[in-house]
Amino acid sequence: MLVVRRALPPVLLFSLLGFFNPDRTSAVAEPLNNDASSLSSAFAHLNAMVGGRLNLAVPFEQACFSVLDGQHANASAAACADLQANYTDPLYRVTHFSAYMFPQWETCQSSLGTDGCLLDSTNPSNPLAFEGMDCRLGNVPPYYITVRSAADVQAALAFSNTTGVRLSVKNKGHDFSGRSSGRGTLALWTTELRNISYNAEFRPEGCSANTTYDAITTGAGVLAQDVYAFADSVNRTIIGGYHQTVGFSGGYLLGGGHSILSPVYGLAVDRVVEIKVVTPDGVFRTANECQNQDLFFALRGGGGPAFGVVIEATHRTEPQLAIQAAVFSFNPTGTDLADWYSLTIDNALAWVNDGWGGHIMGPTLIYVNPLLNTTAARASMQSAIDFVSARNGTTIVEELPTWLAFFEKYVITAEATVGYERSASSRLLPSRLFTNASTLAQLRSLVADVLPFANPYIIAGTPWLYEPAPGAAGATSVTPAWRDAVWHLLLSTSFEYNDTLAEREGRYRALSAHIQGFRDLAPESGSYFNEGDVYEPDHEVAYWGAENYEKLLAVKRKYDPDHLLDCWRCVGWKGEDDDLYQCHIKL
Ligand SMILES: Cc1cc2nc3c(=O)[nH]c(=O)nc-3n(C[C@H](O)[C@H](O)[C@H](O)COP(=O)(O)OP(=O)(O)OC[C@H]3O[C@@H](n4cnc5c(N)ncnc54)[C@H](O)[C@@H]3O)c2cc1C
Ligand SMILES: *[C@@H]1O[C@H](CO)[C@@H](O)[C@H](O)[C@H]1NC(C)=O
Ligand SMILES: *[C@@H]1O[C@H](CO)[C@@H](O)[C@H](O)[C@H]1NC(C)=O
Ligand SMILES: *[C@@H]1O[C@H](CO)[C@@H](O)[C@H](O)[C@H]1NC(C)=O
Ligand SMILES: *[C@@H]1O[C@H](CO)[C@@H](O)[C@H](O)[C@H]1NC(C)=O
Ligand SMILES: *[C@@H]1O[C@H](CO)[C@@H](O)[C@H](O)[C@H]1NC(C)=O
Ligand SMILES: *[C@@H]1O[C@H](CO)[C@@H](O)[C@H](O)[C@H]1NC(C)=O
Ligand SMILES: *[C@@H]1O[C@H](CO)[C@@H](O)[C@H](O)[C@H]1NC(C)=O
Ligand SMILES: *[C@@H]1O[C@H](CO)[C@@H](O)[C@H](O)[C@H]1NC(C)=O
Ligand SMILES: *[C@@H]1O[C@H](CO)[C@@H](O)[C@H](O)[C@H]1NC(C)=O
Ligand SMILES: *[C@@H]1O[C@H](CO)[C@@H](O)[C@H](O)[C@H]1NC(C)=O
Repeated sequence: MLVVRRALPPVLLFSLLGFFNPDRTSAVAEPLNNDASSLSSAFAHLNAMVGGRLNLAVPFEQACFSVLDGQHANASAAACADLQANYTDPLYRVTHFSAYMFPQWETCQSSLGTDGCLLDSTNPSNPLAFEGMDCRLGNVPPYYITVRSAADVQAALAFSNTTGVRLSVKNKGHDFSGRSSGRGTLALWTTELRNISYNAEFRPEGCSANTTYDAITTGAGVLAQDVYAFADSVNRTIIGGYHQTVGFSGGYLLGGGHSILSPVYGLAVDRVVEIKVVTPDGVFRTANECQNQDLFFALRGGGGPAFGVVIEATHRTEPQLAIQAAVFSFNPTGTDLADWYSLTIDNALAWVNDGWGGHIMGPTLIYVNPLLNTTAARASMQSAIDFVSARNGTTIVEELPTWLAFFEKYVITAEATVGYERSASSRLLPSRLFTNASTLAQLRSLVADVLPFANPYIIAGTPWLYEPAPGAAGATSVTPAWRDAVWHLLLSTSFEYNDTLAEREGRYRALSAHIQGFRDLAPESGSYFNEGDVYEPDHEVAYWGAENYEKLLAVKRKYDPDHLLDCWRCVGWKGEDDDLYQCHIKL
């Protein structure tokens, strides 16, 4: 059943539901056929407007199942084997509309039983997951448009405006809060917006001739790893995230975008100089420091599709950078892990002041520094080197000639895994915690207490040394808590493919309960929109700060008075009872 914004005339509703109740026994997504009925002709019109790129979604894993929505379906042994072999490969998932990096968002988690089509991530060949099991579309949007231009987005907005059919926006499918799927929605898939170009003297539209930037423009669908390779090919560095397939100018940018180079070079929202977007009122706009400044501010951290569908964005570059990499790991025994986290807590402020950024996950630390030479880098890290060496661990400190060389050597093998059902929660930890002996002690003991639940994922990726430009050129809408934070701390939890509703609820509750200690330690701080708790309390203040939120809400009202582009805990959120979130569990 489709999710519609308001009651439709019965006749229209009838034909609409008929249209959207396709015969799911077909394993192949077929474009919509022309149909005589009145609303069907609206769909046919939409399909024609978008060059026949209106598609029917089929569950990603369907090839392994012989029952689809209670009907017999043809499983394909060859296609199933391919899927099983690549189930947790981000480069494979990213090419499939119905695949999400955290597969629980493919399912309708609020349903009592399993309402989706998942394999067992820990063993994709486990036949118990698919033999005789019913494969369902779950939370995957039943229809999607593969967006090639602003005109496609405009056609979809106009269609939603007249029919009431709700929209969702998917790019590379990494969202932690299910913001890029949605049962009963028509999805805009921006994955194929893959243009990329370089301009050493990029002038934002409407700016005077003396405002230029050395910049790279990427379509919303360009993968982070492709941006890194392209920047390297033109002898520049682009500052970006710690993963191959994250959408550089999509969700990553819109929510803030941290990098391990952010301590020196800022967040993605600090570095973007222009965004081209179709706003929910259907107008294709260019936002930058010289025009549509309110929109530019909102897009720089407002999060998700709330202010429009991004077609492309332009980002400042840096010259090629030699980077010191510190890569440490060891096998912990006894109290090693708690002692190790304590050491990193005690050094956190000194390290970020020296220009380090990086990740710590359990007994593994991978940090980079673009400011120091190798000798100084080793000296800065000496206490950690001593600790790890005493445990016969690995302590590499080496210079890599470029970001790309570092990325290829260290990130691809250490990046967060995908294809597993997982949920995260975040807290930005402010500097005051790291300067006061009593709060340092509290933080150390809180981390030690949380270890039996999960190893905190420490992201030293806050813009600590970075000074935003004054005025509209530097105005971002992420919570100001980012600017004073030393760490962005993540906790995450895993699910089983066949968890019951009660088990899913329990896991979300446990995660929220464990991050609560960090909220209590720094109640004045905030949380990262893109990696926040699905159930983040007081999310308006946590993600944006009260002052930014007020401004963001005004921009939302201006461009999207009818809520054509809403999403979970986004700006202008009307609450969890909105049908758009029918598959989110209400805790
Ligand atoms: C493995 C992994 C590693 C990560 N590493 C980092 C990291 O190093 N740094 C960091 O900051 N974050 C990181 N993240 C978080 C990441 O930034 C977010 O998940 C982000 O939303 C991903 O964007 P996407 O376009 O790939 O995902 P999607 O799920 O496709 O989209 C995310 C959100 O953005 C919206 N959206 C997407 N494209 C558009 C568009 N063109 N116009 C309007 N709205 C759009 C969607 O509607 C959705 O609300 C990581 C996530 C994962 C899963
Ligand atoms: C399954 O495949 C057979 C043979 O190719 C075909 O005749 C049949 O229609 C298919 N069934 C479904 C439900 O797709
Ligand atoms: C899937 O994995 C197999 C085995 O690793 C590999 O040969 C195949 O190319 C992969 N398929 C795709 C589409 O990536
Ligand atoms: C991508 O680039 C091509 C060639 O320059 C251009 O024709 C096309 O309009 C661009 N696409 C988008 C979505 O900007
Ligand atoms: C939606 O409909 C209203 C009223 O007809 C119109 O003013 C508005 O421009 C439409 N918006 C879009 C995106 O088509
Ligand atoms: C840029 O040019 C404008 C007029 O074209 C001028 O007013 C302004 O002072 C210049 N700014 C700088 C930084 O040179
Ligand atoms: C690349 O950039 C560096 C630093 O900016 C410069 O020294 C070098 O000459 C450039 N190399 C090429 C091939 O352009
Ligand atoms: C490394 O940097 C330090 C501090 O800036 C400096 O004193 C030292 O001479 C440098 N060493 C080398 C080998 O360049
Ligand atoms: C480290 O290795 C040395 C030499 O093999 C050994 O004597 C020592 O016990 C080891 N220490 C630890 C903590 O494993
Ligand atoms: C240190 O933190 C404690 C507990 O929050 C607080 O009471 C104390 O005033 C702080 N001391 C300083 C010097 O800031
Ligand atoms: C989930 O599936 C596994 C086998 O894959 C089974 O052992 C377990 O009992 C199932 N859990 C539930 C809640 O059905």
